[in-house]
This record gives sequence, structure tokens and C-alpha cells, in this order.
Amino acid sequence: MKIRKVALITGSSGFIGFHLARFLLSCDWKIIGLDGMTDYYDVNLKWARQKLLCENTSFYNYQGMVQDSKFLDEIYSSHKPNIIIHLAAQAGVRYSIENPISYVESNLIGTFHILEMARRYKPDHLLMASTSSVYGSNKDMPLHENQKCDNPMSFYAATKKSNEVMAHSYSHLYDFPITMFRFFTVYGPWGRPDMALFKFTKNILSDKPIDVYNEGNMIRDFTYVADLVEAIYLLISKIPTRVNKRQDIINNDSISDVAPFRVVNIGNSQPINLLDYIKELERVLGKEAKKNFLGMQDGDIHKTHSNIDLLEALTGFLPKTTLHEGISEFVKWYKSYY
Ligand SMILES: NC(=O)c1ccc[n+]([C@@H]2O[C@H](COP(=O)([O-])OP(=O)(O)OC[C@H]3O[C@@H](n4cnc5c(N)ncnc54)[C@H](O)[C@@H]3O)[C@@H](O)[C@H]2O)c1
Repeated sequence: MKIRKVALITGSSGFIGFHLARFLLSCDWKIIGLDGMTDYYDVNLKWARQKLLCENTSFYNYQGMVQDSKFLDEIYSSHKPNIIIHLAAQAGVRYSIENPISYVESNLIGTFHILEMARRYKPDHLLMASTSSVYGSNKDMPLHENQKCDNPMSFYAATKKSNEVMAHSYSHLYDFPITMFRFFTVYGPWGRPDMALFKFTKNILSDKPIDVYNEGNMIRDFTYVADLVEAIYLLISKIPTRVNKRQDIINNDSISDVAPFRVVNIGNSQPINLLDYIKELERVLGKEAKKNFLGMQDGDIHKTHSNIDLLEALTGFLPKTTLHEGISEFVKWYKSYY
């Protein structure tokens, strides 16, 4: 299906939003970027990402919070984006223990206002970020979209799972298509300072020890940001429609029986042990890490491994970036930026 190339991206000065906006701009899209520039991590990094985006004349920048419905209305009526990609959120598992209210405000109330905006304006497709954390205590690997996931281990995951069910009800009641992405640990240049790769690199380069949780006994499906962005791009045109006959749908589709609504994993599907991840980083940096082995952190999960059959069936996409390439790109960026 041919679509008008005008998208509103919330969280556009964030890690993933920035990469997605850059990619879509390079494909001649008009991008309306919105970000509240929250101070969860170094705001200068957000300004630097935003500055790069603003160099492109097809990028329109707005600063404000998604909880502000008047602000959303103003943006929508000025640009009439037919695609909305909602990435703005209070992210992070650990911080949701320290400051849960920020998750209520951004993820629950903020997402509610995005849904209300979509209800008023009926975009061609609303796409929103969820997370692999919603799989919680599931042990049935690889994790697939139709698995029951009602056992979140952190409040962050609980707000993201809530976003999925809120979105389903709006899609059903007001009949507009929604795709929810479940992202698996994303890494790459311009990455978040609260995430492992950033913290490890920073400490190794400055001779400080790195904190290794659960004695290193953690497995993550690390997903390179350029792969993730390509997958999002391909999913934009895969607009869910109401299912008439269940037998018409592809195998293991997560599409709802009662709404144009689907959940899709975006991961690398090649889980890596945390200690191997650190080893690769040490190789790239040419320096060994001093490791401070610690116990499991509250809210954390032991293993993630995505089943990406649905993503592949819908888009033909398979991740391409090796761990070595991905970590090298991150380190190259880190050294030039800092
Ligand atoms: N990075 C990952 O590994 C990962 C994994 C799973 C899910 N996700 C989800 O993907 C999305 C993007 O994550 P990211 O890694 O780019 O995070 P990020 O923190 O870098 O980006 C989020 C951006 O949203 C903005 N923001 C936060 N609350 C806002 C609000 N209420 N109104 C307006 N702007 C607000 C922040 O200022 C930030 O720039 C989030 O929804 C996150 O939960 C990320």
C-alpha cells in the first residue's frame, strides 16, 4: 500500500526516535518531532541529537510533553501526519523502583493522550513502543507474541503492558489500526547513558570497575539500532486490518480477533551471555574491564530471546548486524562524541 510520507515521532530526541527520524528523513519523509527533553539522563545528549535532526528542512521540531492534549492538537492540526510513531516514554527498569510516578505520568497518562489524539484524527497507522520486559517471568524461549504475559517483574513493564491493553481497547472501540512493537535491548551509537554498553564503555575507558549483575549470569537479545529502525520502517506499511476469517491470517499472527491491532517483536533473535558481550567490548576497546560482580537487581529478568518469525513473515526482515560490528560502531561514536 502506498502511504503519505508524513510522520509524527514522539520521543524524537531520544535514542531510538533520533535514529528513526534520521532514517525516515533520508527516505524523503516529512517528520514532525516531539520531545519533552526530560532529565532522566544527560539532556545535552538529547540536544545534540535534536540539533542534527534540525539541520534537515523536512524536520519540524516541537518541545513539550505528550500529556498535554492541547499541544498535541496544535501539532496535529498544523501538520496532519498520517503516521504516528509513539516512542516517548519514561524508559528503564531500575528507575521505575526509584521514581514510579514518572512512569504513570509519561507512560500511562501520556499514552492515553496519544490514543485520544488518534481517536480524534484517525491516522492511517499508529505504531507504539512496548518492550520485551512485558514477558516478565516467562521461561518459554524464544519469546513469542501470543505468549501470555501477565506477570511483569517491574513497574516499567507493568506500564508498557498497560499501554498494550489500552491501545487494544481504543483500536477496537474507535476502529483505527495500531501496531505495538516489543523491542529487545537496543544498542548502538547515540545510545542511552543508563544502559549497559554506555556505562561499561565509560568505566573501562576511565579505568573504573563495571557493575556486572547476577554475577554475569544474564542473557540478552541485543538488537542493533539500525536493524531495529529498518524493521520499524518496514512495519509502517503493514497496517493491521480487522480479521474476517481466522484461517486467512498468517501462522502465529498476533492480530486481534476484534480489532485492527497487532503486537510484533523486534529483536535480534540471537541471545548473548552478558560476559561474552563484555568480552567483545574488551576486544574492541583493546582493554580489559575490572569487574564488580553483584547480585540480581530487583525487577530484572534473567533471559530474553525473541522469536521474530512474525516480523519476518510480515516484512521479510532479518537482522544483519553482527555483535562485533554493532559494538565497534558504538565505540567509534563514543570516542568521537566524548
Ligand atoms: N532502548 C531500548 O533498549 C528499549 C527497549 C524496549 C523498549 N524501549 C522503548 O522504546 C522507546 C524509546 O526508547 P529510547 O531508548 O529511545 O529512550 P529515550 O529515553 O532515549 O527516549 C525517550 C524520549 O522521550 C522523551 N520523553 C519522555 N517522556 C516524555 C513525555 N511524557 N512527553 C514527551 N517526551 C517524553 C524523553 O525526553 C526522551 O528523549 C521507549 O518507549 C522505551 O520504553 C526501548
